[in-house]
Amino acid sequence: MGETSPVDPAVLIVGLGMIGGSLAAALKSSGYTGRILACDPDVEEIDTGLEMGVIDDGGSDLAALVVQSGLVIVAVPVLAMRRVFEQLVPVLGDRVLTDVGSTKRCVCEAAREAFGHLPVNFVPGHPVAGSEKSGVAAANPALYRHHKVILTPESDTTPTAVAMVRALWQRCGAEVLEMPVDRHDQVLARTSHLPHLLAFSLVDTLARQDERLEIFRYAAGGFRDFTRIAGSDPVMWHDIFTANRDALLSALDDFETGLARLRAAVEQGDSDAMLGTFDRASHARHYFETLLNQTSYQTMEARQVQYRVSPGGSVNGRIRVPGDKSISHRSIMLGALANGVTEVKGFLEGEDSLATLQAFRDMGVAIEGPHQGRVTIHGVGLHGLKKPAGPIYVGNSGTAMRLFAGLLAGQAFDTELTGDASLTKRPMARVADPLRLMGARIDTAEGGRPPLRIHGGQSLKGIHYDMPMASAQVKSCLLLAGLYAEGETRVREPAPTRDHTERMLNGFGYKVDRDGDLATLQGGGALTSAPIDVPSDISSATFFLVAAAITPGSDLVLEHVGVNPTRIGVINILKAMGADLRLENPREVGGEPVADLHIRYAPLKGIDIPVDQVPLAIDEFPALFVAAANAEGTTRLRGAEELRVKESDRIQAMADGLDILGVETAVYDDGIDVVGNVSEGPNYQGGQVDSLGDHRIAMAFTIAALRAGGPVWIDDCANVATSFPGFVALANKVGLELAEVSA
Ligand code: S3P
Repeated sequence: MGETSPVDPAVLIVGLGMIGGSLAAALKSSGYTGRILACDPDVEEIDTGLEMGVIDDGGSDLAALVVQSGLVIVAVPVLAMRRVFEQLVPVLGDRVLTDVGSTKRCVCEAAREAFGHLPVNFVPGHPVAGSEKSGVAAANPALYRHHKVILTPESDTTPTAVAMVRALWQRCGAEVLEMPVDRHDQVLARTSHLPHLLAFSLVDTLARQDERLEIFRYAAGGFRDFTRIAGSDPVMWHDIFTANRDALLSALDDFETGLARLRAAVEQGDSDAMLGTFDRASHARHYFETLLNQTSYQTMEARQVQYRVSPGGSVNGRIRVPGDKSISHRSIMLGALANGVTEVKGFLEGEDSLATLQAFRDMGVAIEGPHQGRVTIHGVGLHGLKKPAGPIYVGNSGTAMRLFAGLLAGQAFDTELTGDASLTKRPMARVADPLRLMGARIDTAEGGRPPLRIHGGQSLKGIHYDMPMASAQVKSCLLLAGLYAEGETRVREPAPTRDHTERMLNGFGYKVDRDGDLATLQGGGALTSAPIDVPSDISSATFFLVAAAITPGSDLVLEHVGVNPTRIGVINILKAMGADLRLENPREVGGEPVADLHIRYAPLKGIDIPVDQVPLAIDEFPALFVAAANAEGTTRLRGAEELRVKESDRIQAMADGLDILGVETAVYDDGIDVVGNVSEGPNYQGGQVDSLGDHRIAMAFTIAALRAGGPVWIDDCANVATSFPGFVALANKVGLELAEVSA
């Protein structure tokens, strides 16, 4: 029940059908205290409304009912509005008037004709909700809940009248917004009126071909889903189509053009055109659904997810963690820029790499999937991307934003790159500055932060760049820009960083030379598609490696993990700490080394982490700090200032969480000391820690619970989906007791 108010005005609903009846029912169930009256020429509808208890009184004498009310809502078909308005002229006075018509221009004209002007107390409205059922008997008190109601007041409409109508719909659980009349009619013509027209037409076409309607016996779900709305009220839709004729016809023209294009593609067997259309549509439909369900990466931030992890246990079994995030991003990028079709296996269906995939779709690349890790990319060549309709949103992904900056700097069109709250705080000058040296034009927000505005149409020149930090993202960004630059692009790294971009470019027939710490490529070449087999992500495997390393009785195999030499810092560090970790069945898959990692529990000891291992284990430190907390003695890390500018400040975030668990740490600008504690029982206590929305902090504290003395609660875990979809299920499968609580 909603809150009650002693000042709810009496409302009069003129036209007690399904729409008006649902409004009455919604008000009643919200605890509305004002009287709810209805006027309808059909006394049976009034009687039904009274019997259902959705109205308090009613009849067919409009004037008599108007005088008892403070707010009049006209809920008759749009072409019947004018007659109602005419009857209201002598009695309305300064009462607030609104309507529920699906087209607004014609309703406003009807009001203008009846009253001689548009009354300032008239607030045109349209609840964007409906049902194919009609009559008050079909009234549904939940019809407007979480639906939009669009109001189209004029500039001189009385603000208190707008506020009253707004409050009325909010009482019914609706989201109220305002827009100009013509915009409303155009939007609705495309999103509501056109689909209704098509549904009516399709059903009628089939029905005409088969007078006995036999054909419908064979109609399956697709037909039922597509045509449900053809059961709607014919008079109402006749009125809507008549009233919104021009906008509807223009929407229909666009539709016919699209249909003709598709017809030609089918006729000519043009698979690229068909797949392109279906793929865009399928993706748009999924996107629409995620908007409705609020499940996409775009809304992850809004979802509050808490983990509760029971203390104790060990981890056992054979598992395969999802695909490598870095390689997944690059597979889409290079696949899209290649000539030919690229087939990807093992693609990470996480929010970050999906953001990259979506961005290329927005730039006109046909991409099928992902379906169980398989993606097919119809490459458009280095110069085949199209300008996206709006900003490119990359969610939480630093890799996407920085690599995109490089490849978009070389395009002919302007783009804008945006991201979530965490990404918006991360430094982008590290890519914008060297790109500017190449001739790119890029605007950043204050302090070199996102969003990035990239001006297309610049001619880029190759540069020699000595990177001030060891960053694979910066290196990759410049190499991608180098594809579009005149001459040679040379990037020197102060320490080895992951080389997936170089390997994949070579695999796509684009030569990247490696000479010590220098990577060099020549602009102006072309990429040729090649199949990609994405290995499991060693960064995701790390959580389970550490889980096994710290819990007696553990014996775990992680299959098909990428063990590129630029990524194996975690293996080297864990081994140096005493972990019983073996690489089995080493092999090379699609230009990347892969192995099964077999780990068994063995006591760990604290170490000074060699500085040369830092870039090779850069994403693994949150988990390694948990290993350190369970090791004998102190583990010291230095030279890792980059950790402060990841998805969170990972040094501080981990120190804060470990502190809550009672683990002693000392924080430095470029590192941390973690003082381990080893006992027969728990090594520290349980508690509630904040992951700060950082996926790796959330997963690190999950495994920490294995050696805690009580449950560990971890806040803000929705972003685990950026890199490790299915983490909760897999963790439970190997032996953790982890529950996800959504708020
Ligand atoms: C990545 C590089 C690393 C890493 C990130 C992924 C990549 O960042 O932390 O998760 O895919 O190139 P930096 O290159 O900024 O260190």
